Amino acid sequence: MSFRKLIVLTPAALLACAADAPYDPLEDYVEVEATTVLDAPPASPGRYAPQYAEQVERGEYLVELLGCGACHTDGALLGAPEPGLSLAGSRTGIAWSNPLGERNPGVVYPSNITSDVETGIGGWSDREIANAIRFGAGRHGTGGIRVMPWPGYARMTDDDVDAMVAYLRSIEPVRHRVPDNVEPGRRATEPFVYFGIYQSR
Ligand code: HEC
Repeated sequence: MSFRKLIVLTPAALLACAADAPYDPLEDYVEVEATTVLDAPPASPGRYAPQYAEQVERGEYLVELLGCGACHTDGALLGAPEPGLSLAGSRTGIAWSNPLGERNPGVVYPSNITSDVETGIGGWSDREIANAIRFGAGRHGTGGIRVMPWPGYARMTDDDVDAMVAYLRSIEPVRHRVPDNVEPGRRATEPFVYFGIYQSR
């Protein structure tokens, strides 16, 4: 008798259990192993004079530490940086206005900061590069560069910023064109991410 009772109760007990089980998102989603720590590409010895080796090394250390590649490397924003495109710009943009609040947000595409003259910063002067890093100045000194956290770099010493410029010049130029930035109200045709902060009402 008692055996029979057990058989009858078990399915009902299981159902009750399932209804109470906490939501487990991993039943709906698979976890992707994202790469978020990026090595800065190595300096090319032929691209700087030996007496600058220490400065270039410090620049590499700073670029790695400050995570410049997290934005400036293709695929990095998606957790899958393209190995040959370190610091060569991102074809995935970053929206700087909220795509949930307006149909066509403004989008910037982190630039190619290798020394390729046509698609990178090879044609920029040292001062122009330094001013972009510390003051968010565009090539012609205009406007604050959007999204890049340059206000956090503004107090960097001259020595540190010079080291970063020396390092950026010492890596191999990579020809890689990123999409043009998109002004709000225009439709972006290339992909972009958006980082927003939300709070329950
Ligand atoms: C959060 C993302 C982000 C990070 C981190 C970041 N940048 Fe940028 N950076 C950008 C974007 C976006 C632009 C281009 C903005 C534009 O085109 O208006 C840019 C532009 C630049 C430019 C100007 C080049 C050009 O062609 O416009 C330089 C130089 C630069 N970044 C260097 C650096 C360095 C060096 C670091 C690390 C210390 C760094 N960035 C970190 C997003 C970032």
